[in-house]
Formats: sequence, C-alpha cells, structure tokens
Amino acid sequence: MRRILSRIHIICDFIKFFISAKTIDQIDSPFYFEFHQRVIKSYQSYNDKSISLYREALKSDQTIVKVGNVGAKSQITKKNKVSVSHISQNAVSKDFKCKLLLFIVNFFKSQTILELGTSLGVSTLYLAKADNLKKIISVEGEMDIYRYIQNKVADGKLTLLNSTFTDFFVKAINDSELYDCIVIDGDHTYNATIDNFNQSRKILSENGIIILDDIYWSKGMKNAWKYIQNEHHEFHTINLFFYGIVFKNARLKKPQRINITPFPIRWKLGLFRR
Ligand SMILES: C[S@@+](CC[C@H](N)C(=O)[O-])C[C@H]1O[C@@H](n2cnc3c(N)ncnc32)[C@H](O)[C@@H]1O
Repeated sequence: MRRILSRIHIICDFIKFFISAKTIDQIDSPFYFEFHQRVIKSYQSYNDKSISLYREALKSDQTIVKVGNVGAKSQITKKNKVSVSHISQNAVSKDFKCKLLLFIVNFFKSQTILELGTSLGVSTLYLAKADNLKKIISVEGEMDIYRYIQNKVADGKLTLLNSTFTDFFVKAINDSELYDCIVIDGDHTYNATIDNFNQSRKILSENGIIILDDIYWSKGMKNAWKYIQNEHHEFHTINLFFYGIVFKNARLKKPQRINITPFPIRWKLGLFRR
C-alpha cells in the first residue's frame, strides 16, 4: 500500500513539474539552449551494447546478497538478504536515466568523477564512458554488493571502493582530493542528502558540478533539494525531475533556478506557450 501511495505521489509531482518546466521553446539563454541541444535532445539515441548485456544478465541472476547495513530503509524490500535480480529491477537506475547522466557529465566536460552509491555498477559503467574522463571513483557501503560487482564492473579508469560515505569523505578531505563531478545516489533521507552535499562541496573543483539523483523520491529528498536552492546562492541549479544539477558558472547571473523537461517534447505550443 505504501509503495502504491508513494508511486501516486511521484506521478502527481511529475505532472506538476512537467507543467511548470521549460521546453526548448521557452529557453532564451544561450547556455541553457545549448544544454538542451547537447543533453536533452541527444541522450536517448545513445546505446552501449555491453552495458545492456550486463543489465540483462543481472535481471536473471538469483545470487543472494546481504543488504541493510547502510542507506535509507528501502521502499522495495525490508529484508536483509535479497537477490541480485531483485536489486537490478528495483534499485538500479533505468537506462534512460543513465544515458541522461552521461550526457550531463559530457556537457560539463568533467574529467574526474566521484559516484556515491555504486549498487550493481550500471550507472558507474555509463559514467566511465564520459568523453573527457581521467578517473572515476565509485563508493559502495554494502560489502556483499561490492564483492559481487568487483570483478564484473571493470574499466581502466575506474576504482571501486567499499566504504561508508562518511569514511570516504574523511579521507578525501584529508588528502585534498578534488572532483569535477560528484553524483550523490546513496542514502535518500533529508539529513544524509544534506550531509553528503555539504561534504561534497569541500572536494568539488572550481567549476565542478554536483548531481543529486531522485530529488522527488521522498519528502526528505524534496526538502533537501529546496534547502539547497534556497541556501546556496553561490550555485545555479537545473531541475530535470530525475536529477538535480548544482553548478557554478561565472557567466550566468546569480542564482539561476531552472526546471527543464527531461524529454525533448515540444508540447507547450499555441495556448500553453508562456
Ligand atoms: C540507489 S543505489 C545506487 C544506484 C546506482 N547509482 C544506479 O544508478 O544504478 C544506492 C546505493 O548506495 C549505497 N549506500 C547508501 N548509503 C550509503 C552510505 N552511507 N555509505 C555507503 N554506501 C551507501 C547502498 O548500499 C546502495 O547500493
């Protein structure tokens, strides 16, 4: 029942978002116009056969892994043992989202990427395809999941880490590591999201971006997104419903808040056009 109610909430939020968000016909700024052309209009045509095959293999893998040591209580399972197949169908980003993520990273030309929340590594594999990539680190707190993917998700520039985000941040801040892009896709509660965001700012490069996954997933996530927009005027934000992007750009007037439809549909023509 809770799951159905949560789905209904998300659908209502999506409708509200979709009505308020800009399509290509309402975008005047050259920066956002280019973003639309190079990200929104383009990402759906991307295909990577090896990642699709990996995802397919996960769907039928009945290997059992232990979960529940880190992160928000899942809306999908309350058990502490679950099959890889179950995780792949319930907690891994859909293909269209992973492609969108990759195109955002390419648009901002990120060279060093940090992903908080690897899970089965599907989004990680997409991020590892970024055009300008020099290194990517992906952090996963569940030992069993980390062990499962360790030999399956490999790329020369990719390092997988088994660590809590808290421990990771302590080390990264101490080592003065900097990242051009930080993807926060771990514990989807308000406090954890704000904490991950605040720690991420300390290791973000000068023109770096922070991408928050699932900003409408729960009340906590929605409030965290509102807080970031209200309190952090040093950043611009783009709301794509599935992702919230936080970034700096000295050429844009501060602070810009824009909602853009994540699908390239030109439906606000005629009567609906603002
Ligand atoms: C939603 S999944 C990540 C999905 C993946 N990025 C994708 O798009 O397919 C979140 C993952 O973050 C991990 N996680 C959550 N909170 C964490 C924490 N505090 N420290 C380390 N890992 C955490 C969970 O174990 C889970 O595997």
